[in-house]
Amino acid sequence: MDRRQLIQTGAAAASGIILLKPATAFGYAANSAVRHGLLGCGNRGSSVAESFSKNTSAQVVAIADLFPDNLAVGRARFDQFNASLGRAPIDAKLLFHGPHAFEQLVASPDVDLIQISTPPFFHVQHLEAAVAAGKHVYCEKPVGIDIHQAKQALEIAKRVKPTQSVDVGFQCRNAPPIAAIAERIHGGALGKIALVAGIYYAPASTEKIRPGASRSDTGADEYRLRNWLWDRALSGDILVEQNIHIVDLCNWMLGAHPLKATATGGRNILTHFGDCWDNYQVDFTYPGDVHLSFSSTQFGSDNVFDAGLRLFGSDGSANVPYSGPVQITGKQPWAWQDSTSAPSSGKFAANGAFSDNLAFADRDKERTFIDSITSGNCHNQIAAGVETALSCMLGRMAGLTRREVTWEDLLAHGETYPLGFGLDQFE
Ligand SMILES: NC(=O)c1ccc[n+]([C@@H]2O[C@H](COP(=O)([O-])OP(=O)(O)OC[C@H]3O[C@@H](n4cnc5c(N)ncnc54)[C@H](O)[C@@H]3O)[C@@H](O)[C@H]2O)c1
Repeated sequence: MDRRQLIQTGAAAASGIILLKPATAFGYAANSAVRHGLLGCGNRGSSVAESFSKNTSAQVVAIADLFPDNLAVGRARFDQFNASLGRAPIDAKLLFHGPHAFEQLVASPDVDLIQISTPPFFHVQHLEAAVAAGKHVYCEKPVGIDIHQAKQALEIAKRVKPTQSVDVGFQCRNAPPIAAIAERIHGGALGKIALVAGIYYAPASTEKIRPGASRSDTGADEYRLRNWLWDRALSGDILVEQNIHIVDLCNWMLGAHPLKATATGGRNILTHFGDCWDNYQVDFTYPGDVHLSFSSTQFGSDNVFDAGLRLFGSDGSANVPYSGPVQITGKQPWAWQDSTSAPSSGKFAANGAFSDNLAFADRDKERTFIDSITSGNCHNQIAAGVETALSCMLGRMAGLTRREVTWEDLLAHGETYPLGFGLDQFE
């Protein structure tokens, strides 16, 4: 199936709710909107929320953020966006800010779906509140930044009701070319897989300061929060926060998580605030002595970006890049036929809205998720999300300790990264 056919299939799926028999439209009358509340009005959060509204029946009716200035930016953006779709502005009573904004948002009876797009440190806390309130949840990756949070998330997963749908933001699996090649790999097109190579080479992220403020009048805790991408406790480090997409694809394609890892890396270039590394090299061992040789960088301002996987097997090899030909060579040659796309751009997208092979990843992820809600065939992706987060934590621990770490070592370790301050100061 080429991209054009997939687009048509996807469009039919998107309109699925108007085709549903009332009896199967679990809790949702045909044509009724899923009322969408966004938690964390930043770059990725706002982009995904808009994409939901464009591609599904979800409508942004509520937004929440720790910082009033970010909430105000979100309000202006969504009022304008909703107007462009002929929808009402966000009701003032559904705008929440401050450290308890997440509790107020999940308590709202006017919201069906909570999108968690806060910094990774808060994902599990916010997931717990949203699940307890009985909401459907779209939670950004990673599900937890340390072992303690990961175990907590697994407990939360057990409390998800059959009538609740919870997705984790691994949209790359839904990118049509990647879904198509994964199907062939799962079907055995490569024979016995011997080795995987993965890369994630990304530019540095830029400093964020409250509008009108300077660095010197931004408190240390606020500065850390706004620049969470540079901070290991808040982000999980580049391996857990960003490179996770590639590790997730590898786990998915191999159908397993790594059993152990050795790693190195460090901070060779970056000199700004923070403790995240700017490069990692990890050797992950999967069952059957299959190795993922993974390398990543995150520095530089030239916007050069390259990410993807190559899998090598007895019968052929597969190339799965974010940008460039998606293909299998060997006994069962295959290539993604894309008659509609522009030439590869190879550009980094800090909001995750990539072009090239990922152009339809968000759209198809969101449609599948909203369909799960409206059909009543609910998802619970928490445990799978935790497994990928733990895989990245395995590589991070191997790098930080400079020794081989097994999956059992990791789980037994009890690793925690406390924040070291409370949020009440942001009342
Ligand atoms: N799936 C992807 O491809 C992809 C791409 C980019 C980012 N992400 C993920 O999305 C999430 C958000 O990233 P972003 O780039 O939008 O970050 P961002 O910094 O632009 O936005 C985060 C927002 O959360 C708010 N916030 C911080 N702490 C909060 C709290 N305790 N309660 C409520 N609001 C809080 C901030 O004020 C900010 O507005 C992260 O988890 C990131 O890993 C995923």
